[in-house]
Amino acid sequence: MTPVLRSRTALVTGANRGLGLAVSTLLHARGFRVVLGGRDEEAVTAAAQSLGEGAAAVVLDVSDDASVKSAAERVGRVDVLVNNAGTFLDRGDVPSGVPLSLVEATLSVNVLGSWRVSQAFLPGMVEHGWGRVVMVSSGTGSFTNGLFPQAPAYSVSKAALNAVTVLLAKETADTGVLVNAVNPGLVRTRMRPEAERSAEDAAGDIAYAATLPDGAPSGVFFRSGAVVGW
Ligand SMILES: NC(=O)c1ccc[n+]([C@@H]2O[C@H](COP(=O)([O-])OP(=O)(O)OC[C@H]3O[C@@H](n4cnc5c(N)ncnc54)[C@H](OP(=O)(O)O)[C@@H]3O)[C@@H](O)[C@H]2O)c1
Repeated sequence: MTPVLRSRTALVTGANRGLGLAVSTLLHARGFRVVLGGRDEEAVTAAAQSLGEGAAAVVLDVSDDASVKSAAERVGRVDVLVNNAGTFLDRGDVPSGVPLSLVEATLSVNVLGSWRVSQAFLPGMVEHGWGRVVMVSSGTGSFTNGLFPQAPAYSVSKAALNAVTVLLAKETADTGVLVNAVNPGLVRTRMRPEAERSAEDAAGDIAYAATLPDGAPSGVFFRSGAVVGW
């Protein structure tokens, strides 16, 4: 049985539901102190309470500078950051016609949100000489997979998130901090209710990247624990 040490802290964004809640639950079961971030105070507090001792909630809207700053002040240094919060607004749109307001709203959460939260917490990891950052990405952001013209804003946002992953990994090379992206596949959540894979199952892939041993790769894209092409 995993010893419950709670000596390391993991922050998960968008943790009130779906994949974020499943990852929080798994990391908590593996002995992390887990801080669940969510923009709805009531929902994220209830989610943290459902995990019990060793879990806490913080109000965190990743698209809002002041919210991220205030959360960073309250949470302090973390060892693991899972940038999970995401939005999918343009299913069925086409690249030549998707409203750019939708593109902006998508980039604001999926790219700038994850980048903003990373900027708030990554320097503390580097200073401490250890950390793991996981970007919850998607196959729709993969050039190797051909991107995803049926949801152009979402697809571009995840491709850009992959680029941010590589840039942060290069910047933090040899610091003890690993920054990687994960493609969880299609997962049955509010975002993809029709999917077969459960959030609990997919959470294992994210937890894998969040608990990599020292010397493991940084700046790579994982699918089911294997490194895949961008
Ligand atoms: N489901 C899939 O098939 C699939 C596949 C590949 C990648 N992903 C990625 O997995 C991640 C989790 O998605 P999910 O499937 O669990 O979907 P979900 O159930 O819709 O959950 C999305 C989470 O993100 C939060 N969120 C959205 N905007 C936010 C903001 N501005 N600040 C803070 N939190 C915000 C939501 O909060 P509210 O509850 O307040 O809206 C919710 O907690 C996303 O990054 C998604 O792109 C999902």
